[in-house]
Amino acid sequence: MSAQRDLLRFITCGSVDDGKSTLIGRLLYECGLIFEDTLAALSRDSRRHGTTGGEIDFALLLDGLEAERQQGITIDVAYRYFATPRRSFIVADTPGHEQYTRNMATGASTASLAIILVDATKGLLPQSQRHSIICSLLGIRHLVLAINKMDLVGFDAARFSTIAAEYGTFAESLGFQDITAIPISARQGDNITSLSSNMPWYRGPYLLAHLEAVDVSADDAAKPFRFPVQWVNRPDARFRGFAGTVASGRIAAGDTILLAGTGMQSGVARIVTADGDLPEAVAGQAVTLTLTDEIDVARGDMLVAPSARPETTDQFAADILWMGNEPMLPGRDYLLRIGHAWTAARVTSLRHRLEVTTREHQAARLLEMNDIGLCHLTSQKPLSFDPYAENRATGAFILVDRFTHETVAAGMIRHGLRRATNIHRAAFSVDKTVRSARYDQRPILLWFTGLSGSGKSTIANLVEEALFAAGRHCYSLDGDNLRHGLCRDLGFTPADRVENIRRAGEVAKLFLDAGLIVLGSFISPFRAERQMLRELVGAGEFLEIHVDAPIETCIARDPKGLYVKAKAGLIPNFTGISSPYEAPEQPDIHLKTGECSAEQCAEQVLQVLRGKGIAC
Ligand code: ADX
Repeated sequence: MSAQRDLLRFITCGSVDDGKSTLIGRLLYECGLIFEDTLAALSRDSRRHGTTGGEIDFALLLDGLEAERQQGITIDVAYRYFATPRRSFIVADTPGHEQYTRNMATGASTASLAIILVDATKGLLPQSQRHSIICSLLGIRHLVLAINKMDLVGFDAARFSTIAAEYGTFAESLGFQDITAIPISARQGDNITSLSSNMPWYRGPYLLAHLEAVDVSADDAAKPFRFPVQWVNRPDARFRGFAGTVASGRIAAGDTILLAGTGMQSGVARIVTADGDLPEAVAGQAVTLTLTDEIDVARGDMLVAPSARPETTDQFAADILWMGNEPMLPGRDYLLRIGHAWTAARVTSLRHRLEVTTREHQAARLLEMNDIGLCHLTSQKPLSFDPYAENRATGAFILVDRFTHETVAAGMIRHGLRRATNIHRAAFSVDKTVRSARYDQRPILLWFTGLSGSGKSTIANLVEEALFAAGRHCYSLDGDNLRHGLCRDLGFTPADRVENIRRAGEVAKLFLDAGLIVLGSFISPFRAERQMLRELVGAGEFLEIHVDAPIETCIARDPKGLYVKAKAGLIPNFTGISSPYEAPEQPDIHLKTGECSAEQCAEQVLQVLRGKGIAC
């Protein structure tokens, strides 16, 4: 515990030009963390390439580490450890360019203090403001404003005070607990590890002294008890323990706990660690808890204090920092991870996008990489959480792309939404089973996907004719047709297409419930939404049919004359021309309409349906 109390995690924000590498390099050097051989190479390189006239150029050290990092493609944030007799430090070193905001956010999410580096010759730039806002959003409450390159402004006290005052005004509403402005020269070492004689007018601490002394105790131990269960430890029938790290609060043997969500109650029997049982555990400690009752606790569940329960809901508002290469699409399903729990989740609406430099709330349809926005989300399973502002450990989540497994967003929950509570499903006795028995058929959704002009509607029409003639009850949902009514407000941006397919899927689901065989013909260009459909209606009632024709064939057919227009640049976002089509990787039925006639393709579908006892 004492090791933990003496550890300060911080992040440096600023670009290489602001002197970030030099600053970290110097801190590591002064704390004796640079090895002799590195030092020899460094002074050789400094003489050869450096910008310091033969002195050691610390930026070169970090640049070397940077190159190292470039080789490991997954490590975006390098954590460097160093220590003084008074404290240990972990500094998150993140690339400083604007497009790397996401890396900065990753570093900031575990830091308690941020050093915002400002170049005294340039003053406060939008990027410093951007970084400050992200730090504030990510719950950092302690700030150092390091005004660097003081040597280049003649160690001018007035310059320092002007920038510090300007920053103070800017940061007023960002909720920082303390902001300490320090004039430094990272390159010359002024006010880094000792007070500089070049700035006798400065009365404050030098940087390292401040880092050693600053009180950042967030007092997680004083917060309500939260224990996200990382795994269930069950070596044999006699032992069943729940392993994890106490996220906040404290717990003692004999205490009562609740399983968040269900509210099931039990008592803590033992607090087990590798070094024997403990009478008590506090925030930050990794332990295994055994309970006095056999309640059903699984990985991802949260054990909490009965007197202060977290919120549990499947709809909530959160600040989202988008990190994905592809923009965020409201309506698309992503995987959400909170604590050790995973569930599918989607953004139901983007309330606003935050313009970081002006802090203006802007209306927006989607978030691009590095954008920040306030969103409403819904999750498949209810989540138990605390607002991020109250508890960083239980209020933060990430969103992960279901196909690429890329982390696409960091989220900070503000509060739960109670929009759709008190709504229950009404049960009707004439249900899907009764209807399909009456119609003597199994409902199924035949989903035709493919480029415009590939033949989706034509083939669907032939299949429906044959089914209808055989006495089946069917209904066709067609992209062009729905876009005249239910979806007339939608265009062809990726976001609109996601919503288009979501609506079509919901309607298809209702028709399935009505006992019908449903034929859906939509370009539906994205894999993610087709997967969403499969899950929405259930795999047993979904057939993905790829109506596959080479784009050249579709262009040659051009039944609606749209390709001519699209190629002339008259239709933006045209699938296959200026908007992507993600072909199914494993469709249930693959129709090659460039090679076979529409009739042959329809027959191919009917054969599959006959095999399933759906068509006669
Ligand atoms: S989807 O991508 O959202 O599934 P949908 O199947 O509803 O599209 O509509 C596609 C039809 O809209 C096409 O067959 C074509 O007739 C018409 N259309 C108009 N503009 C576009 C466009 N930019 N991209 C694709 N189709 C378009």
